[in-house]
Amino acid sequence: MADEKRMQQMSEDFQRMVDDFFAIQCRYSAAIKEVQTKLEILDDEFQMKHRRNPIHHIESRLKSIQSMMEKLSRKHFAVSMQSAVENLHDIAGIRVICSYVQDVYTIARLLTTQDDVRLLEMQDYIRNPKPNGYRSLHLIVEIPVFLQSGRLPVPVEVQIRTIAMDFWASLEHSMRYKAAGEVPEDISEELHRVGEDIASLDDRMQSIHDRIDAVIAQQATKAEEQAP
Ligand code: GTP
Ligand code: MG
Repeated sequence: MADEKRMQQMSEDFQRMVDDFFAIQCRYSAAIKEVQTKLEILDDEFQMKHRRNPIHHIESRLKSIQSMMEKLSRKHFAVSMQSAVENLHDIAGIRVICSYVQDVYTIARLLTTQDDVRLLEMQDYIRNPKPNGYRSLHLIVEIPVFLQSGRLPVPVEVQIRTIAMDFWASLEHSMRYKAAGEVPEDISEELHRVGEDIASLDDRMQSIHDRIDAVIAQQATKAEEQAP
């Protein structure tokens, strides 16, 4: 009976959240568009100046209602859309996949120093990886969205990582999902080691890139000196 009552309550909470979410969905989609456009402009400008794109690709998503409900109850918050708006900063999420580690920090700096972007939180899981080996730079930024009712600041979670870090995170996520969170110790340790190998590959790729840049700069100086 208690179970039946709980199920009934969950289904009522869900229906109410669906109705309320439709009312505010627009502001979170708008915030994603705003941040995504800023990132694309930075990427285009970088391409013009340096002849390469620091951003490999961008993904975005609105958190599903089921996942909001799950997170709210896991964190012991009220399960409602109002509570989600107040307590969850990742309803709007953007993932930026960069070519090199330095690009991750360059993009983060260029985004967060724009005067309409407010940095609410930064977690550097590249310098301080999670115990399982997860690496990524996480930002929560607040961006103004202009609706008929006026200016509304909206939080967006931005995860910035390299292609190699994304490779690890995507596969680890699907493996953890498949194993329903119960990954045996020896496999977790192996995944952790793979994370370290990937970090070392990222460093080597960065260093190869820097050396190529140095060679190109040297050639340019030589050409200038030899010009009549
Ligand atoms: P949650 O958002 O509920 O995870 O709690 P939190 O706000 O403390 O999250 P955190 O900053 O640790 O992570 C937020 C997001 O980063 C997650 O939703 C994932 O997309 C990603 N993430 C964090 N840790 C891991 C991890 O160990 N593996 C993978 N694949 N992704 C992770
Ligand atoms: Mg989070």
